[in-house]
Amino acid sequence: MRISRETSEQVRNVADIVDVIGEFVRLKKKGSNYFGPCPFHSEKTASFSVSPERGIYKCFGCGKSGNVINFVMEYHTLNFPEAVRMLALKFSIPIIDSDERTQKVDDKRELVLMALNAASEFFTNLLFSETGKNALQYLRNRHFSDEMIKKFNVGYSADSWDMLYKYLKKKSFEEDTLEQAGLIKRGDKGYFDMFRGRVMFSIKDNLGRIVAFGARRMNDDDSQPKYINSSQSIVYDKSRTLYALFEAKNSIRNLNYSIMVEGYADALTLHQAGISNVVASSGTSLTNEQLQLLGRYSKKLYIVYDGDQAGLKATERGIDIAISQGYELFIVRLPEKEDPDSFVREHGKEEFDQYIKKGQNFLEFLIQIYRTRGDFGSPSYKSEIARSLLKLISKIPDKLQHDDYFRIIASHLNLSENQLITLYKEKEVSNNAAAVKASEENITKKELSNDSLNFQEIQFIYSPKSTIDSLLPEEKLIIILALESKNNINILFDKYNFSKNLLITSAAHKLFSLIVELSEENTDINRALTEDEAIDPVLKESLILLSMLDEKQSDKWENFGAMPNENKSATIIKDCVFKLELKALEFERKRLTALLKTNSIDTKITKQIIQIDERRSQINDELIGNDSF
Ligand code: CTP
Ligand code: MN
Repeated sequence: MRISRETSEQVRNVADIVDVIGEFVRLKKKGSNYFGPCPFHSEKTASFSVSPERGIYKCFGCGKSGNVINFVMEYHTLNFPEAVRMLALKFSIPIIDSDERTQKVDDKRELVLMALNAASEFFTNLLFSETGKNALQYLRNRHFSDEMIKKFNVGYSADSWDMLYKYLKKKSFEEDTLEQAGLIKRGDKGYFDMFRGRVMFSIKDNLGRIVAFGARRMNDDDSQPKYINSSQSIVYDKSRTLYALFEAKNSIRNLNYSIMVEGYADALTLHQAGISNVVASSGTSLTNEQLQLLGRYSKKLYIVYDGDQAGLKATERGIDIAISQGYELFIVRLPEKEDPDSFVREHGKEEFDQYIKKGQNFLEFLIQIYRTRGDFGSPSYKSEIARSLLKLISKIPDKLQHDDYFRIIASHLNLSENQLITLYKEKEVSNNAAAVKASEENITKKELSNDSLNFQEIQFIYSPKSTIDSLLPEEKLIIILALESKNNINILFDKYNFSKNLLITSAAHKLFSLIVELSEENTDINRALTEDEAIDPVLKESLILLSMLDEKQSDKWENFGAMPNENKSATIIKDCVFKLELKALEFERKRLTALLKTNSIDTKITKQIIQIDERRSQINDELIGNDSF
């Protein structure tokens, strides 16, 4: 089940990078490239650029770059064959499998996904069969429509020891795969099904692939857990999954906000009522990763948890994470005994919409909560609250918002803004000190993210820009043109006798040599720059950066006047070569005149200087004829 080279090749050629990325990033055309906010790190400016000509993207902020397949891999966290498959599907490219004998670890994931998919189909079929009669009745009693049941792949697991195991075994899935999928378990008397006699909610990833199940008991027997969920697996990470995201993502993107609920049932009922921008955190602890995932679609969020104390606690925890990630956050509080599911069934969609409209800003929500928990007249309680709110505010990445929040806090707590700001500064100083300490101790990204810091905010320290900045303007242009086409490289060497020795900076030397080397090997340069692991990453990054610089839109380029692009490139090449030669000649002349000072009668040196001067005036004549710069 490996994907053949032809297929990945065709995907690369056919899948339009602007189309693919444009689905997730608002791109604006500027010159020959497109620009937008980078989907890989939080930013307000548009430092993410896409070049349709070259089929590559590059973020000037965080440094991420690659081709269309790399984008899909990175954005959807897929491996290579998965990304190719996804694009092939989108652009109707037939998938040709290559030799099946070389199955690799990657394929284990696919097998597990296939097993889960087969299991889900089995559960749904069973639900609509005689065996599933009671389960279907249970769901209908809860007013779930058949349409929703099917759309969300809800099913039923038979009350039998090993019905699913036998079924999947017949479909030639191996025990190891089924165990890894969390569908079966080995007992004393052999393998048995993990889920028995329960309503099965299929849990999908954001691409719609079934990765896990949530299995609900159908009675009120409290000796059994209400839900049994799949445990973590190679395809399922609970903390990175949001129930119903697949069904909700388009609507979230269109409406530009999402609604977060606790349970499967809540999500289903709201979707059924036509509120389709709803996802469920499946339980009470919302994670950083879940919000990072959701943030790809919209950064405005309404949290609508159950009206009970557990829901309230979970909301408070969610606020912290969402705020730190720069979410615009609103909290909706339902009546004490309700959850979104029961609320919509009793009061209908319109009333639910009203509640959403009345969603409170997180700060007002918290202040209201704190009011019920203590005496606002008490200075020590007030101070405690002020500190905890300021701590929260300090986590909002957009510092411009902080002032507004100070004002709100000050007015509610009846404190002066100045008092608050002083308190805040104390806090900020200690935060900064902590940050410095963290970087000194070189804490890994993972540890930082566990600490509820948003690691996407941490900029990459390494910047290839410095390499490029050291280039002379002529060197830069030559490299850009050499990157552009093999033809330009030929012009350089054949027409202008270019020698690498004319490149003055060592950066230019290295970069140019790499391009020539790749071009001599007939390697597709764009491909090499995005995929070839063997190339020094600093050089790779620098070349990608150079190839994305829209130098052709610059004034300098315009100075060459209107002429066909091809001639223009040749003219620019000529100009740069001559200018570099002039610089080299000047350098050599200086060396010779210095020599002459110590050895004034050396006629050989004098002759050389004369030759240099002749060549210089020749070049200058050429350049004037060229009428450039
Ligand atoms: N949950 C769980 N295990 C439990 C209880 C709850 O995994 N034992 C998760 C489920 O994802 C559930 C969510 O927490 O959907 C919310 O729990 P709860 O409000 O108890 O369930 P509901 O989704 O409201 O389900 P129902 O309406 O069927 O009671
Ligand atoms: Mn509930």
